[in-house]
Amino acid sequence: MVDFHEYQQRFHQLQAANPQLQPAASTPAAPQGQQAATAQQQTHITFHQIQAILNKTTPTLPDNILLDFVESHFRKRRNILHVIGGHLTPCYLFEPNIIIANAKAFKRAFQQYLPESKFYFAMKSNNFIDVSKTVIGCGFGLDVSSGAELATALRLGAGDIVFSGPGKSAQELDLAIANNSKVVVLMDSFSEMRRLEKRAARQGRQIRAGVRLTTEPNGLWRKFGILLEDLQLFITESKRYKHILLQGLQSHSSWNMGPERQIAFIKELSKTIAHLKPEDQKLIKFIDIGGGYWPEQGEWLQSGGTPQGVVRSALSAADPAFLAENLAYPHYFNQSSPIEVFALELSRAISEHIHTLISCKICFEPGRWIANECMSIILRVMDKKYGDLVITDGGTNAVGWERFETDYCPILNISRPALTEKECLITGSLCTPHDVWGYSYWGADIKEGDFLMIPSQGAYTYSLRQNFIKSAPEVITFP
Ligand SMILES: Cc1ncc(COP(=O)(O)O)c(C=O)c1O
Repeated sequence: MVDFHEYQQRFHQLQAANPQLQPAASTPAAPQGQQAATAQQQTHITFHQIQAILNKTTPTLPDNILLDFVESHFRKRRNILHVIGGHLTPCYLFEPNIIIANAKAFKRAFQQYLPESKFYFAMKSNNFIDVSKTVIGCGFGLDVSSGAELATALRLGAGDIVFSGPGKSAQELDLAIANNSKVVVLMDSFSEMRRLEKRAARQGRQIRAGVRLTTEPNGLWRKFGILLEDLQLFITESKRYKHILLQGLQSHSSWNMGPERQIAFIKELSKTIAHLKPEDQKLIKFIDIGGGYWPEQGEWLQSGGTPQGVVRSALSAADPAFLAENLAYPHYFNQSSPIEVFALELSRAISEHIHTLISCKICFEPGRWIANECMSIILRVMDKKYGDLVITDGGTNAVGWERFETDYCPILNISRPALTEKECLITGSLCTPHDVWGYSYWGADIKEGDFLMIPSQGAYTYSLRQNFIKSAPEVITFP
């Protein structure tokens, strides 16, 4: 537990020394004494809010889980070193077998309860062509969110594509309509429906469609879909359009550590469906419940990825004396449910709340769950500046965001394996201090020329890569 009084005392010392930190008056018109009292009260509330966040505990990553993870990847190291032997680093190492195993496991988990289901891989989670090719080979369709992704899916020969996302352009809609035997458009709004009708009429074709429903009517997620309360109106209007065949509903929420949030939405959806006109209920041939299944590994975090860490780093920005925690340890952990639990509980909710009202297919759009472990990043140590600071040949432009400031992803020295973690700042070679891979490595030692491996970089990394300063690395396929 963090000592609140220490922070408070320290803050008051700072306040005394720095007039800029004196509490601001809330209402300029209030008498001076009252102003000071209100401001003091506010400071007090703020301290209590900060205290509440600092006292929150995020569980730490259990040693056995971490050791199993590290050991299982070290076991593959000889083969990995052999495969990358003749190639340049940095590179992504792609393992198609992992995609195959995950795609099969995901389908198996849900099909045992919902045999009629359909599965669409969310291409945005990893847009490496061979990932999509491999999932198609496993009987998946593709979930695309742009004209570029749609064109790729068509080029790959995908025969079953759902196209979702807000603000689709005329060209994107035209491409979908031109391929109406393969594509279902998941409309995002009333105005998109009207535009889709116009574009489809121009081509003289009918397009199958669904409508996305807003899962969170407040905050940033409200940009997606229409409100549940507008569904009846939407269906009624769609019946005026000769070129749109409205057949289904879609929802999606991200980052689900368990099925609770999705189940809550299924219950809300059920109430809405129950109030639709009976003939409109019959139109619904599919309900697509989206993606968002967190991988079973759980979420592994650095201190900076926890609410307490965020507050600590804000405090340390004001005064370096607050820098409370060693960056390398401990590692934090948010547990997630196995996919079998998602499958059991979601199908139970669907049979209780949906299939009692209408009979329809259930569709899924997993991305992260399928792709998370299919890619590793391989780097080489270019420069050992000090015992606790090395520079690698690749930069975090390979993942496109400052992932490792918040996420803990173990760095394995596959040239000198050992089941011990050593503190060391591992940075990339970009000219920015935010180019950080991690604050520790696993291995006996670290030297220039060593190969480092960062496993489980298959989701929302490759697709976000950038040609920033350095070009994005190549992909090598691990047989
Ligand atoms: C509509 C839609 N479906 C599916 C996904 C895939 O989600 P995840 O990778 O979390 O499974 C996303 C991700 O943003 C999405 O927006």
